[in-house]
Order: sequence, then C-alpha cells, then structure tokens
Amino acid sequence: MRSATASAHPNIALAKYWGKCPGSANVPAVPSLSVTLSGMSTTTTVSFDDTLLHDELVINDARMGGRSLARASALLDVVRAEANMTARSARIVSKNDFPTASGLASSASGFAALALAAVRAAGLDWSLSQVSDLARRSSASAARSLFGGFVELDGGEGGEGGVACARPIASPDSIDLRVLVCVTAEGAKSISSTCGMRMTQETSPYYDAWLVHARRLFVQIRSDLLAGDFHAVGEGAEKSALGMHACAMAAGIVYVTGATLAALAEVRAMRAEGIDAYATIDAGPHLKCLTTSRSMHDAKERLLRVPGVLRIVETLPGEGACITQESLGQESPAQGKPGR
Ligand code: DP6
Repeated sequence: MRSATASAHPNIALAKYWGKCPGSANVPAVPSLSVTLSGMSTTTTVSFDDTLLHDELVINDARMGGRSLARASALLDVVRAEANMTARSARIVSKNDFPTASGLASSASGFAALALAAVRAAGLDWSLSQVSDLARRSSASAARSLFGGFVELDGGEGGEGGVACARPIASPDSIDLRVLVCVTAEGAKSISSTCGMRMTQETSPYYDAWLVHARRLFVQIRSDLLAGDFHAVGEGAEKSALGMHACAMAAGIVYVTGATLAALAEVRAMRAEGIDAYATIDAGPHLKCLTTSRSMHDAKERLLRVPGVLRIVETLPGEGACITQESLGQESPAQGKPGR
C-alpha cells in the first residue's frame, strides 16, 4: 500500500472568478486573485490499495458516493494514468476543520489537498504548478490553494483544451491583512458554485457586463495589492463580490441570507466610523470581513453582535499546501519518475 497525507488551506478570492470558458477543461472565464488563509484547513490521506475493488471517499467521517466520489475518482484517474497504475483503487480520507460545502471554500482546500496527496502517493515527481493544474481541473479555485500568500489564477480566452495557471504574486506578509470569517450557517449550501455559474452564464442578463467588470477589477486589485494599499484592495474586493452576486441574483441564484446582509451593513457602518473593514462573500451565506491587525479586535466584537452571525473564525494570510506524512512502500509504480 502506498499512501500520502497532505494539508491545504482554503483561499478567498479578492478578485472573484465566476463563469467558465466553453469546453470541458474547467478554465475560468476571468482571472482571479486570492489570499490563502491559515486558520482553517483540510487534511487528506490518499492510500492506493490493491485490496480495494473501487475508490472510497470519506469526508469528516461520512462515507460519500455520487457526484463527490465521481469528482475525486476523476482526479485519481489522471494520476493513475500518469503513474501507470490504472487498475489500482484508492481510499481517500479527508477532514475539514470548518463547515463543508457551505461557501467556505472547502472545495478549494479539499481538491488542493487531494491532488497533492494523490500525486505524492503515486510517486510522481511533479512541480507544485503541475499539481495546481490538476486541482484546477476539478475545482478552479483549488488551483490557488496549492500556493501561499496572494495568488493569481489566469482566465482563459475560451476554447476546448484551454489552460489556466495559478501562481503566487506576493508573500503572506506583504500587506497587513486579517480576515474574519463570519459563519452564518453550519450546513451545506443549496446550489454548488459549478451549478450557480452555469445558470448565471445561461440566464443572467448582466453576465457580459460582469466579464468586463471582473477583468478590470482584477487588474486594479492586483496593482493595489502590489502597492501595499489595504484600503484600495478592500474597496476593490467588496466591489468584486457585490458585482458577482448581482450578476448571479439576476439569474435567480441567491446565496446571501438576512444574516449576510446584516453583517454587510455592519461592515459598512464600521468603515464610516474609521474601523478598517471591507466585505467579501463567496458562493454561500458567510461574510468574510477584510480588516487589519489594528481594527481586528473592534471588528470582531461588532460582528459577533450581528443577529445570525453564529461564530467568527480569525484567519490571516498563510502558506500553501504541504505533505505531512507519506509511506511509499517498496515498489515504484511510476518507474522513471522518481518521487521527491
Ligand atoms: C465565488 O472553484 O468552487 O469562490 O471550479 O466549478 O469547482 P468550480 O467552482 P469554484 O468557484 C469559486 C467561486 C468563488 C470565486 C472564486 O473563488 O474565485
């Protein structure tokens, strides 16, 4: 048996991706820029085991089937083909220390950890960029979680077989940023991002405008980040989130709840009073407050008093994915491709 365990953090996009290029390569329609967050993590073990008849997936102690297992097996199929071990099944055991599938980017950290653990367990000597590209094919935002700090992901120009690479552009300490994740629900969200994006692309009257807006915001946020301007980055990130949600809402996709909007109003009230606070919201009901070390304490106290905010997870820019354990047995199924 060969196994490897990897750990990865979620990331939140400051400049959002929403919408895909045509084709099946899972290439985002627009570029995005995220920050990888320490304070939440997914840990995944992949074990290739000759005694298994098919792949198995266990997330947070629950046996998974259906689409979740199919997505994980599709990623393993790529790894198996590269490592000449097509007949071998695997057991995947994964744990999140935060709500799963609820818009807290569990698919980002989940597929990043799965890709890294699978590649290493198969004995493939791949660069982090190759692992990132593998993760991107399963969930585009996962490509960014392989790297630490601030990470950009290309948007493709469209077409079958397109590519989009992720790369780090600034270290975790390049701006003073703290992220308060305001958890407003513990359950899974009702519409997956993949499905929400598809419906937005097909029916939102604002989708074309979003593509133009998102690309401009990406360029602006990237340059504000590299200039170290927290307020400009926060302003751009809030615009990106609101633009994405406005576009999705026009297609009938509503991720926000009353608690999300109440928290957004509180962030804006704090800002008017001189507290460093901006909001971003992904494909779920949670609000993430972008703040600084100076304002974090005040912002947390105020947000905890908002009705519907259940708890707050304090996070800050962190490192990329890493291998925490491996056991590669005797044989080398990836002959000619030594493990690192
Ligand atoms: C709102 O990466 O979860 O978080 O590629 O279909 O799995 P799939 O979608 P996913 O979408 C992320 C959407 C977002 C914005 C972002 O992270 O850029």
